[in-house]
Amino acid sequence: MTLPAELLQQRLLAPSILSADFSRLGEEVATVLAAGVRLIHVDVMDGHFVPNITIGPPVVASLAPLVHEAGAFVDAHLMINEPDRYLEAFGRAGADGLSVHVEACPHLHRTLTRIRELGMRAGVALNPATDLALLGEAVLFCDYVLVMSVNPGFGGQTFIPESLDKIRRLRALLPAQAALEVDGGVDRGNIVRLRDAGANWFVAGSAVFGGGDARVQVSVLQELIAGAA
Ligand code: DX5
Ligand code: ZN
Repeated sequence: MTLPAELLQQRLLAPSILSADFSRLGEEVATVLAAGVRLIHVDVMDGHFVPNITIGPPVVASLAPLVHEAGAFVDAHLMINEPDRYLEAFGRAGADGLSVHVEACPHLHRTLTRIRELGMRAGVALNPATDLALLGEAVLFCDYVLVMSVNPGFGGQTFIPESLDKIRRLRALLPAQAALEVDGGVDRGNIVRLRDAGANWFVAGSAVFGGGDARVQVSVLQELIAGAA
């Protein structure tokens, strides 16, 4: 499905399934969809670009129908080397947005263009120590930029506070129609500051699935991001 342009400009919570109970993955996703979530964040790791290994296209293919049936979308975050080798597989599996790391893409224009050709929204992700200057002209060829506010690889890490200023600076240089996604350590304590800094897609793994009723966590976080800036 095509992720509608208006969603790029909305404030959306994107629960990351990395912190879900994998033995009940469908139920966990259904729970947050029932709470009104429009974006499901899927963290793909290869054990090379990042130290951890997670999931790939078959899991996306299993979840995508459930997500789409609820009018929601799959936001896949590729923390892998040579992502070009897998763009088609994720497209076929039903991903609606695909973000690739600038650190893993020597030919970023080609990669982003290919993602769009495959009918998906194209995102660029940046590690915490990566200068915004490395985005360069890519802001013109992408639909969203993902700012990592922890080092990619694991859920449940502590938010890096310098990310707030990076988000502020990025918002100023990003075209108005592009989404700014923040990923890592997002919780009730910092989500409003992230919103005020200019983020509008908020990935939350442990803050949603890490304890307590995921439905309640989603509604608390959604209320916080919906408040006036
Ligand atoms: C980290 C992943 C994140 C992770 C976030 O490498 O990209 O999406 O799931 O988890 P929390 O919200 O627990 O930091
Ligand atoms: Zn992620």
